[in-house]
Amino acid sequence: MIPQKEGELQLSRRLEGVSESATLKLNATVQQMKAQGVDVINLTAGEPDYFVPEAAKKAVIDAVHANQSKYTPVGGLPALREEIARKTNEQQKSLSSNRPWKSNHVVVTNGGKQALFNSLMAILNPGDEVLIPAPYWLSYPEMVKLAGGIPKFIPASGAQGFKITPEQLTQSIGPHVKVLILNSPSNPTGALYSKEEYKALGAALAQSPYSKNIWILSDEIYDRITLGATPFCSFLEANPELVDQTITINGVSKSAAMTGWRLGWSVAGEKVTQAMLTLQGQSTSGVNALAQWAAIAALKLPESEFTSQVESFRKRRDLLLENLKKARKLEKYTPDGAFYVFAGVGKYLRPGEDSIDFAQRVLEEAKVAVVPGTPFGDPECVRLSFATDEKSITEGCQRLVSYLDSI
Ligand SMILES: Cc1ncc(COP(=O)(O)O)c(C=O)c1O
Repeated sequence: MIPQKEGELQLSRRLEGVSESATLKLNATVQQMKAQGVDVINLTAGEPDYFVPEAAKKAVIDAVHANQSKYTPVGGLPALREEIARKTNEQQKSLSSNRPWKSNHVVVTNGGKQALFNSLMAILNPGDEVLIPAPYWLSYPEMVKLAGGIPKFIPASGAQGFKITPEQLTQSIGPHVKVLILNSPSNPTGALYSKEEYKALGAALAQSPYSKNIWILSDEIYDRITLGATPFCSFLEANPELVDQTITINGVSKSAAMTGWRLGWSVAGEKVTQAMLTLQGQSTSGVNALAQWAAIAALKLPESEFTSQVESFRKRRDLLLENLKKARKLEKYTPDGAFYVFAGVGKYLRPGEDSIDFAQRVLEEAKVAVVPGTPFGDPECVRLSFATDEKSITEGCQRLVSYLDSI
C-alpha cells in the first residue's frame, strides 16, 4: 500500500496493511529482464504451459458468429451453471446421491479468485477470524483483510507434509472463528489431503462447540492435477454432512489451461449463493459471455483429453526433483498435486535474510527466477514451478545447484 501524506487527496483505509500480489510483481520483473535481453530461466509460472483445448476455442468462435454479445445472467449462463453442478455432483457422489447440486447453487465468477473474494465478502464481519493453514496461497490473507476479517494461521511444516492435523484444528478453533480455508492440491506446496485425512479434519471440526458457526471454503482449483497415488478428494465428498456450511471453489484456469480467460465458480447453499449474487450483481455482473461458452465446451470434454498433460506434469516434477538432488542442503518435498515444488532454503540463508532476499540473489547471480515463500507464509522456502519445458527445468536446476554449491 502506498503511504499517504497529509494534505494530499486521501485513499481508503481499506487497503492499509494489504500487500500487492508478490507473484504478479515478480513475473513483471522477469519479463522486463527478458525484454532487456537477459538470459533468465523462469521457474515462477503459476499457470499451465498448455494451450486452451481446441473445443473451447471453437466454442468461442461459434459464439462470436452467433452474436453472443449481450449481458449474461449475473450467476452465469444456465447451460454453464448446469455443467458446473454436474461436475461438482460427480466429485461429491456421497453428497449428491441424496442432495444433488443444481444450477441455482452455482455462481460463475471472474476466475476462482473472485469466487473466493465473493465468499469472504458475503460471510465476514469486522473482527471475524479466518483459519488458514500455512503455507497458503498468498491471496487468502489479503482477501480476508479486505473483507474486514483477521487471518489466523495454522502452521503445517514440510515435516508434516504441509498438512494440518485434526489436533491442530481442534486447538485453533475459538469463539471468533468464522471461516476455515482449505486448499487441496495446494499452491504452493502441492500437498493433497486424502479422503481419510479430510474425514478426520471434518470430525475434528464437528466436535467443536463452535462448529455450527464455521464456514469451510474449499479451494479445489488444482483438482485435475494429481501426481501421486492419492486421488483428488473434494472436501464434501469426505464430509457430506457439512454441506450447509461449505463453499466449493473451482474453475477452468488450471484444469483446462484457461487462466487468462478468467472463469471460475462457487457452489454452495442457496442463502450464501444469493448473497454472492447480490454482491456480484452490484459490482462486476455476469462474466464475459465468450469465456462462459468456452468453459461449457471445456467442461464437456472427457477426462482422457487431459491425461497426457497430467502425465507430463508428473514427468517434469520427477525431472525437477532429480536435478535438485545434488543440492544436498536444500530440503525437498515431493508434491502430490499442482505443479510446484516447495523447497526449504533455510541452510543457504545469510544472517537476517529471508526467502525474498534469497530469490533476489538467485535471480541476479544465477539468472534463475524462483518465487520466495515469504508471502506464502514460509520465509525459508522457495517455490519452483515445473509448468515449463524440460530444457528450462534442467538448465534452471543446474544453474541453481551450481550457484548453491558456490556459496
Ligand atoms: C490456490 C489457488 N486458488 C485460486 C487461484 C485463482 O485462480 P484464478 O486464476 O481462476 O482466479 C489460484 C491461482 O493461482 C490458486 O493458485
